[in-house]
Amino acid sequence: MVEEKPDIINAAPDADAEVVISIRGLTKSFGDNEVLKGFDVDVRRGENLMVLGKSGSGKSVLIKCIVRLLDPDAGSISVLGQDILTMDQDALDHIRVKIGFLFQSSALYDSMTVKENLEFPLRRHWIDKGGQNVDELVEEVLTAVGLPKTRDMYPSELSGGMKRRIGLARTLILKPEIVLYDEPTTGLDPISGKEIVELILKLQRTYGTSSIIISHDLHVAKLAANRIALLHEGRNYLEGTYQDLLASDDPLVKKFFIFM
Ligand SMILES: Nc1ncnc2c1ncn2[C@@H]1O[C@H](COP(=O)(O)OP(=O)(O)O)[C@@H](O)[C@H]1O
Ligand SMILES: [Mg+2]
Repeated sequence: MVEEKPDIINAAPDADAEVVISIRGLTKSFGDNEVLKGFDVDVRRGENLMVLGKSGSGKSVLIKCIVRLLDPDAGSISVLGQDILTMDQDALDHIRVKIGFLFQSSALYDSMTVKENLEFPLRRHWIDKGGQNVDELVEEVLTAVGLPKTRDMYPSELSGGMKRRIGLARTLILKPEIVLYDEPTTGLDPISGKEIVELILKLQRTYGTSSIIISHDLHVAKLAANRIALLHEGRNYLEGTYQDLLASDDPLVKKFFIFM
């Protein structure tokens, strides 16, 4: 099972840790709907940077721009020192292998077993993972997410929380340096949500991943985020630790803490 780490708050990152994602002036509109209007943020190595924002504020648009599922109108995105927006398809394919993306829906294939779902990204990317064979890798990631016995099961036999964890296992199988989590707890019951949060922390510690966690869930902010950036009206309105935000007198920040 996932290890218990109740109520610890993740510390702010080392201020001089290497920046692994740097976003500047990111702008994206759909017709006359200006979603991002010059968003800036840095993610440091090993940190969980959370982007907090209300529904429809552009959180998913932001992370889709990072993996070029969407093309922004202006601005720059650098990942691991490389300019994402100007690179060619080859370079993009290469860097995408280093970026895991946990979609809001777990996006598993219903007609495939868990094992087949997990093998899928390996086949797609044809990667040699240091001589480890596929069965061992499947075993390793299933153990990492605490579900070693689901190997031959179909998604329809799994609960929502389990599917989310298998989705995460599928992301991990490529051993990404960076993981982008889109609403990792949304739609889950509180217990499954907490398991996912504990898993995010465990992965951060075990694999040293750097992450962006998109969410409006303050429990996630409290337990998993090293730093929080508040996305409001298309910009990084303010950033700080959970405690910084909790202590803030800003009316907009206070609104998020209504239920805390
Ligand atoms: N592919 C798209 N085409 C048109 N509008 C989009 C598209 N994707 C997102 N939007 C719009 O961008 C805004 C932000 O969406 P999104 O990033 O999904 O919000 P959230 O913060 O809830 O993740 C919404 O108004 C949404 O309708
Ligand atoms: Mg979203």
